[in-house]
Amino acid sequence: MSGAVLLTGATGFLGMDMLSSLLEHGRQVIVLMRAADEGEAKLRLDGVISRLYEHRSLRDGEVRVICGDIEAPHLRLSEADERMLISEVDSIVHCAGSISFGADLASSRAINVEGVRRVIDLSRKIASGGALRRLLHVSTAYVCGRQEGVFCEQDLDLRQEFRNAYEQSKYEAELLLSAASDLPVVVARPSIVVGNSESGWTSAFNVIYGPMRAFARGMLEEVPANPGSIVDFVPIDYVTAALMHLLDDEAASGNYHLVAGDLAFSAGELASAQAELLGRPPMRLLPQEECRALPEGIATYAPYLDIRCEFDDARARAALEPAGITAPAPGDYLHRLVEFALRTRFGKQRISREAAFSAALAARCASGR
Ligand SMILES: NC(=O)c1ccc[n+]([C@@H]2O[C@H](COP(=O)([O-])OP(=O)(O)OC[C@H]3O[C@@H](n4cnc5c(N)ncnc54)[C@H](OP(=O)(O)O)[C@@H]3O)[C@@H](O)[C@H]2O)c1
Repeated sequence: MSGAVLLTGATGFLGMDMLSSLLEHGRQVIVLMRAADEGEAKLRLDGVISRLYEHRSLRDGEVRVICGDIEAPHLRLSEADERMLISEVDSIVHCAGSISFGADLASSRAINVEGVRRVIDLSRKIASGGALRRLLHVSTAYVCGRQEGVFCEQDLDLRQEFRNAYEQSKYEAELLLSAASDLPVVVARPSIVVGNSESGWTSAFNVIYGPMRAFARGMLEEVPANPGSIVDFVPIDYVTAALMHLLDDEAASGNYHLVAGDLAFSAGELASAQAELLGRPPMRLLPQEECRALPEGIATYAPYLDIRCEFDDARARAALEPAGITAPAPGDYLHRLVEFALRTRFGKQRISREAAFSAALAARCASGR
């Protein structure tokens, strides 16, 4: 690969893991970060590196960091940085976005829709000034909204309704991308992304971790969910490996579901597995009208405990399986997520990605597996 990869969202969960994978593959990386000046941007990058590694410091120029803001005109890039991107970048991974389920539509759109519009504009400048091999956008499988049944990778506008402004804004961003047929766009649609399937490592304890934390602390005995509803989640290592592949696969185009699909747990299966791992009686899954109000902080996730949509990932499997990239079954790694969450007290204590791997490896060696 000749050119550099421009990565947005490197301070976030998915972007951070992607950054480490790009580094480990020896790629030239330029990260775009919100910061007042270059000094602050470098400090933020050092903070990300310390969440990933125990003792790694970056070699000079190994990762370049530039100040930018996807909510600002022209991404708030300096003219010099924009010129540098046009001459040096040949692919973009756009992970930056707002994942807040509680945000209003205007603020979700400002980041998730207008941000994508600006990334498309920059992509066109790069494409006309040199060569753009790939614009890889990280969307979500929940652009399906409240659609029921099977949602396929080629599906987008099904006149669906949305659970929140997050879903709607990600859907609207995809409409912009599907109209950018002059660009080498690939859209990755993960479902819910959880920790690493080998080590349990995560930097974010949202979505399934919210109810898990409350349940582990004995503060959640019932949730409004149908036992048969689908809780589709995938580990970050699968998502990152898939993104790395889709970044370079010249044959890739269009949308790819990065999901558990057929392997996904039902809400009932997740409740039982979690109860067994935490040594407690399972949460009761009740109809909405019979359930007590959820504790603060969990209510925004409740709609994701009652999903009746299955994600078809035939295109993703056809592209990824030949490269050995497959989503593991949730039952094979849920225990690692729970162990890591308990060990870090759901993020109160920081453990780097590297330290989590070393601990997982040591545990496996000790048990002879
Ligand atoms: N997490 C999941 O389960 C999941 C599932 C499916 C899809 N996704 C998608 O994956 C992407 C990344 O999600 P995540 O979980 O990694 O989110 P995250 O941890 O909240 O990270 C969001 C990233 O976006 C950056 N950002 C936000 N506003 C920005 C702005 N105005 N300018 C520049 N950067 C900005 C943040 O930077 P700051 O540090 O400056 O705030 C941060 O680096 C999102 O697009 C999301 O829709 C996530």
